[in-house]
Amino acid sequence: MALNPYDTPRGRMRSRVETTRRQFLLLVGSVGALGATLFGGIELLKFMFPAATLEAPPQFKTGFTVSDLTGNGTLKVNVQSDTANRVTIVLDSTGIYAVYLVCTHLGCTPNYVSDVTSGTGVADSSQTVAQHYTAEAGAITTRNGWACPCHGSRYYIDSTNFYGPAPRPMDWVDIQVTPDNHFVVNRAAITVYRQAGESIVPKWRLDPKTGKSNGKTVGV
Ligand code: FES
Repeated sequence: MALNPYDTPRGRMRSRVETTRRQFLLLVGSVGALGATLFGGIELLKFMFPAATLEAPPQFKTGFTVSDLTGNGTLKVNVQSDTANRVTIVLDSTGIYAVYLVCTHLGCTPNYVSDVTSGTGVADSSQTVAQHYTAEAGAITTRNGWACPCHGSRYYIDSTNFYGPAPRPMDWVDIQVTPDNHFVVNRAAITVYRQAGESIVPKWRLDPKTGKSNGKTVGV
């Protein structure tokens, strides 16, 4: 009768070693396959959902022209808004500036209104329009400005907050005139940044005739 080579102490030992090696190779193979699958899946997801930002670029050209803003003269103040890009460009008696319409409370987009003092209790707020503008010799007293639809903050036309939870004025951003007489607004370039309680009307302006700014930035 032929002798079974595995039916001996040495054979049984060899059999156990071979089984353990097979299990080890199987485990290594499985881990490798799982890793490759995971890596491939992640790369596929990256391909399908690229890490591109959906935010609009900070710089944009306005649809309206400089003449659209200045065409009516400067009887009081003229404004042109690009609400999609959250910017209003203002022409007053001393020049042009651009307000970035991001409410300093929680970031809503304030709406342009012809009378910021309308509404219960707003006109009685601590600083009236006349008081605000008489701080600046020769400044135009105007009631237009912005009202935030979220929690009711109000801002004068120079973007100074005076009512509601907004803690400080809205920022101004850089504008330049293009050769075809439009504006290029750069929301990444702040020209006026004011802290809470800073209510002096900023002096930064773009000259509508020369298209150049006077460089009088605030807080930047
Ligand atoms: S976000 Fe404008 S008042 Fe709250």
